[in-house]
Amino acid sequence: MNFVVTGGSGALGRHVVAALPGARPVSRSSGTDLVRGTGLGALRADVVVHCATSFRHEVRMARAVLDSRPSHLVYISIVGCNEVPLPYYRQKLAAERLIIDSGVPYTILRATQFHSLLCKMFESASKLPWMPVPGFRFQPVDEAEVGLELAALAQAPPAGKAPEMGGPEIREAADFARMYLAAKGKHRRLVELKVPGATYRAYRAGGNLTPDRAVGQRTFSAYLNG
Ligand SMILES: NC(=O)c1ccc[n+]([C@@H]2O[C@H](COP(=O)([O-])OP(=O)(O)OC[C@H]3O[C@@H](n4cnc5c(N)ncnc54)[C@H](OP(=O)(O)O)[C@@H]3O)[C@@H](O)[C@H]2O)c1
Repeated sequence: MNFVVTGGSGALGRHVVAALPGARPVSRSSGTDLVRGTGLGALRADVVVHCATSFRHEVRMARAVLDSRPSHLVYISIVGCNEVPLPYYRQKLAAERLIIDSGVPYTILRATQFHSLLCKMFESASKLPWMPVPGFRFQPVDEAEVGLELAALAQAPPAGKAPEMGGPEIREAADFARMYLAAKGKHRRLVELKVPGATYRAYRAGGNLTPDRAVGQRTFSAYLNG
């Protein structure tokens, strides 16, 4: 079996490439643009693990990957993309449906937010003297562990919807922000953001969480200090 990993240079994709023997990373930097439809010949493989992403073109990218008709397409999606009406989540859900209806054998894994995403969020928020944090909970997972899981799924027969993958602990965003500040030696006053609207309500209701699937091992604090 040979493997292609779209988005193989990204936060997640690089771990999949590292865990899959002989896997070829494919993205714009290697000459393949899934939105413009250029360099698509590089997608030819038995198994495509699709980790490339674009906030506005998720469905178009999935279509380009499906057109290469792999024997097995492994797609990474997001826990709660069917609950939280964020435009990006709607696209993830639409891409899932496109894959399910395509006739291409598939495996879809939904994961919670990655540790690296929380770090990016807190890094930019901590540039302000009063650090804004969302007033809801996260269940962050280590993207290296998700990468290992995707690599295992890619080497197994197509499984359809795989069991979700969530991080080991569920806490308020403010708790994770405090861990981040402590690890970086920064001091900021936290300001909890409460926003009206359906998206915020869905997050507050825990739509982004999967408490029964807290299977990730590495905590946010271990990630920060590791
Ligand atoms: N981040 C999270 O918390 C999280 C949680 C659950 C699921 N996910 C899912 O995990 C996947 C990977 O996320 P990530 O955080 O690893 O993303 P990332 O670090 O932003 O990486 C995105 C990758 O996509 C490639 N890419 C972007 N535009 C492209 C295009 N037009 N054509 C081909 N390749 C393109 C990029 O490489 P080039 O720039 O070289 O093109 C890069 O390798 C996404 O599907 C996301 O929805 C993420």
